[in-house]
Amino acid sequence: GRVAVIYGGNSAERAVSLNSGTAVHKALCAAGVNAFLLDLYGPQGELNPVKQIQQEQIDCAFLILHGRGGEDGTIQGLLEMMQIPYTGSGVEASALGMDKLRSKQLFVGAGLPTPPFKVLRAESDLLACAQELGFPLMIKPAHEGSSIGMHKVNSAADLASAWADASGYDQCVIAEKWITGSEFTVAILKNNALPAIRLETPHDFYDYDAKYQANDTRYLFDDTLSAEKGDELLRLSEQAFAAIGCKGWGRVDVMQDAAGNFYLLEVNTTPGMTDHSLVPMAARQAGLSFEQLVVEILKEAH
Ligand code: DAL
Ligand code: MG
Repeated sequence: GRVAVIYGGNSAERAVSLNSGTAVHKALCAAGVNAFLLDLYGPQGELNPVKQIQQEQIDCAFLILHGRGGEDGTIQGLLEMMQIPYTGSGVEASALGMDKLRSKQLFVGAGLPTPPFKVLRAESDLLACAQELGFPLMIKPAHEGSSIGMHKVNSAADLASAWADASGYDQCVIAEKWITGSEFTVAILKNNALPAIRLETPHDFYDYDAKYQANDTRYLFDDTLSAEKGDELLRLSEQAFAAIGCKGWGRVDVMQDAAGNFYLLEVNTTPGMTDHSLVPMAARQAGLSFEQLVVEILKEAH
C-alpha cells in the first residue's frame, strides 16, 4: 500500500519535522516501501490539512509531525475517523505526552519520580514559586518541544524575562526544579527500552542549539552508570511510557541527581528522526540501522 510520511506542520518545531520527515522518507524508500512525503501546511501554504489528507490515497500514515497540531492527538484523531492506520501513540497518549504538566501529574499518580514543579498562572506567581522550589529552576511552556521557550533560571533577576518568553508560547507555563547532575534520554521501541544515551553539553542545558546546531554536544553510552543503575533507568523509562499510555515508539527524557536518583522529565511521542537524532543513535547502538528502525516503527502502525 501507499505510505504517507506526514511531516512539516505549523508548530514551532516545523523545521525539525521537515528534517525528520525527509530522513524517514528516504529510509522507507530504501527499504522498498511505497512511501511519499505529505507536507502539512506546505509548501504552497495549504491551509486545510483535512483536505490535504483527503486528496491522497493513503493506506497507512507514518506520522513525523513534532509539536502541537501533530504530536498532540489532533492528527491521530482525524486519521482514526478516516480509518487510516498510523504509527506511534494514539489520541489520548499523544495529547497527554504533549502536555508536560499532565504528564508529570500522571508520573506522580503512578508513583514515578519527577522533579518538583509548580504551575505559573501569572508573572506575580514567580517569586513565591522560586522561593518554594529554589534555584536553579526551569521555566517551560507546557506544550512545546525541542526546548523551545524553555529557560534555566539561576536567580530572581532572570525570572521575568524567562516568563515573558515562555508565556508567549503557551497559556500554561510550569516551573520545575532543576536537577543538578546528568541528563539521559531513553528511546523506546515496541514498549522496550533501547540503550540509554547520556547527553553532555557545554550549554546551560540540552537546548535547541545543543540539539540541532552545535557540534560540541556529546552523546555517550554506558559510561557512568553501574549495571544496576543502568537497568533502573531503562525500567523507569518503560514505566513512564506505559504511564502515559504510549504505543509503538517514543523517547523518555530523564535527569539524575548527584546522589544517583532519577527523575522523569517527559515522554516524547514523536521524537526527532533526523540523521543526528537520539532515537536512531540508540537503535544503532542496539544493532538496528535507520532503515530497520523505520520499518519496525511502520510495522507497529495500528
Ligand atoms: N521534540 C523533539 C523533536 C524531540 O523530542 O526529539
Ligand atoms: Mg519534548
